[in-house]
Amino acid sequence: MSNTAPHGRPETPPARTRGGDRMMRAIVQHAYATSDVLRLQDIDEPSPGPHDVLVGVHAASVNHGDWFTTSGRPYVMRAVLGIRKPRVAVRGRDLAGRVEAVGAAVTQFRPGDDVYAETTTGSFAELACVPEHLLALKPANLTFEQAAAVPVAAVTALQGLRDVGEVQPGQAVLINGASGGVGTFAVQIAKALGADVTGVCSTRNVELVLSIGAGHVIDYTREDFTRSGQRYDVIFDLAGRHPLAACRGALTRTGTLVVASGHGGPVFGPLGRYVRALAWSPFVTQRLRVHATKPSRSDLDAVTALIEAGAVTPAIEATYELADTAEAMRHLAEEHARAKIVISMRGSHAASQPSTKETQNE
Ligand SMILES: NC(=O)c1ccc[n+]([C@@H]2O[C@H](COP(=O)([O-])OP(=O)(O)OC[C@H]3O[C@@H](n4cnc5c(N)ncnc54)[C@H](OP(=O)(O)O)[C@@H]3O)[C@@H](O)[C@H]2O)c1
Repeated sequence: MSNTAPHGRPETPPARTRGGDRMMRAIVQHAYATSDVLRLQDIDEPSPGPHDVLVGVHAASVNHGDWFTTSGRPYVMRAVLGIRKPRVAVRGRDLAGRVEAVGAAVTQFRPGDDVYAETTTGSFAELACVPEHLLALKPANLTFEQAAAVPVAAVTALQGLRDVGEVQPGQAVLINGASGGVGTFAVQIAKALGADVTGVCSTRNVELVLSIGAGHVIDYTREDFTRSGQRYDVIFDLAGRHPLAACRGALTRTGTLVVASGHGGPVFGPLGRYVRALAWSPFVTQRLRVHATKPSRSDLDAVTALIEAGAVTPAIEATYELADTAEAMRHLAEEHARAKIVISMRGSHAASQPSTKETQNE
């Protein structure tokens, strides 16, 4: 792991070529396995289609979706990802960077724009192609590293709370897993929606969760929120460790449980919990809802507005170099990440950005 450190304006390295083709460095995988399967390789630069934007990636960040794709677990996901190996070899979805080129039909971006996005074609690389409809302008007040921490986690939090939980001002909202990548955004977004926010985390993260705006914190190593006697209008469950019946016990009579996480066997993983929640919901007074994030430029724009208004700030635990992505992924897979884990491409592009501080909401 490399700590973030102040940096100057690195030289843009000369483009590598092979047989006349331009090459770039990327993290690729050619089989499903542990994070050791991730390799730093020179591969052909992507070429944008008519509706694509070619982005020089300055930073990316890791998400559990990347880990599912690396490991090929739960196995059921291979039906979508690719049966023997991922169809898309380059890992990563979150990115922040600068537009290098645009396809012929692109109208809203031009070379030199600073942007961020969730993409489906790989972001742990020096260059990435992003469909125009998924790309958003980077919040002006964030570094590339901070911006790369945002898309998947913040949009998951926004959609989970606003659309699935239908959080209203004044409601009591509990975020279970408040110290993680999604949870640190969820606490801030729930507060911005006007909720009275309780965060659940372990002892070492109590201060962090309070610092990002939770009104109350429950330390799960000392107290079980399902047995505290408190009732919540909305529970956003990012830890997935309590039985659904126990979560229902902590809801008001007409409260909503947003199920976004779960643990299960290697074949179905969290899907069993999702199916149980959906099957049970019609028969109880409460709503048991499942949340699966969809990439959305308009939702990313909504997050940008919250960030530029100062209501939401990414919290980052650690920043790794591209070559150390496998280590970053191991860290995430342990399920005890504190806020977001970022991959920096420093040295690949002539970026001039202030450094981020570790594990803090700036
Ligand atoms: N449905 C979707 O669309 C969607 C999208 C994104 C993510 N997710 C899921 O959401 C979950 C959270 O994602 P993430 O990126 O925030 O994960 P993360 O960054 O790995 O964070 C996990 C956090 O959970 C905390 N935690 C671990 N055990 C806990 C427990 N028993 N009670 C409360 N907190 C606990 C950890 O804190 P401590 O170290 O203090 O234990 C850690 O801060 C994952 O399961 C992920 O797969 C779902």
